[in-house]
Amino acid sequence: MTAPLTLAQMANDVLTTADGAAKAALSRRHAAAWFAARAQDPCAIEIGTANPPLHPARPDKPELLNPRDVPKRKPGSEAGRIALLHAVAHIELNAVDLHWDIIARFSHVPLPIGFFDDWVKAADEESKHFGLMCECLESLGSFYGALPAHRGMWQAAEDTAEDLMGRLAVVPMVLEARGLDVTPGMIKIFRQAKLTQAVEALEVIYSEEVSHVAYGSKWFYFLCGRDNLDPKEVFHTLVRKYFRSSLKPPFNEEKRADAGIPPDFYWPLADQIKPIAGV
Ligand SMILES: [Fe+2]
Ligand SMILES: [Fe+2]
Repeated sequence: MTAPLTLAQMANDVLTTADGAAKAALSRRHAAAWFAARAQDPCAIEIGTANPPLHPARPDKPELLNPRDVPKRKPGSEAGRIALLHAVAHIELNAVDLHWDIIARFSHVPLPIGFFDDWVKAADEESKHFGLMCECLESLGSFYGALPAHRGMWQAAEDTAEDLMGRLAVVPMVLEARGLDVTPGMIKIFRQAKLTQAVEALEVIYSEEVSHVAYGSKWFYFLCGRDNLDPKEVFHTLVRKYFRSSLKPPFNEEKRADAGIPPDFYWPLADQIKPIAGV
């Protein structure tokens, strides 16, 4: 009988699967196996360790371009809306890998098992989000891979491959928090176009992304507390070190607060000074 997979091996399996639909399906199967085993016996699956690839396997298409070479989209047109859904699908597929990568890459760090539960759940939700975006694209006569996509999305993972606190600061607490800022505007675009399927899919994404940002801040605070560090100061230092630009207002202050990120974390990193209330 072969030994059951460890969680780190499951993560590595997903990271080394190239096809988008196969990656998302495997991610969902491994997440279901993890939670089913955890419900029976909290230690049924070992965390284990893995040596994940620095770059996860990806499908041949979409072609990956530098951000400045990705054609600009006009969301008022059908082609623009397809391009927007395609960009979100690409973000979701990256997010599947990002969440399994934090599990595999930092599996050697002693952490409460809840850390792994959170990222398995987030990875499962990203896999669902990727599927939802693929369905929306297909209903508009397109598919994931039909258009070029952004190459830079894995950069943050590469830059923070050796630094768990840096990873938490930049991926969930900066990049995924940015998703909370921009998703309401996207929902509006699809609502105006009367594309109910896309509106409903983006509403699922919007509600579930709050918890991914919250997992980031929860474990960031945890690690700061364990080392007696000031979370705000460490956050500023790590974002300045690993994130290559300033943060862009307007911020979704309400959802960021729901996710445990206070304004004095992000406003000092913004590319403009916070306007004074009432002025
Ligand atoms: Fe997502
Ligand atoms: Fe997410």
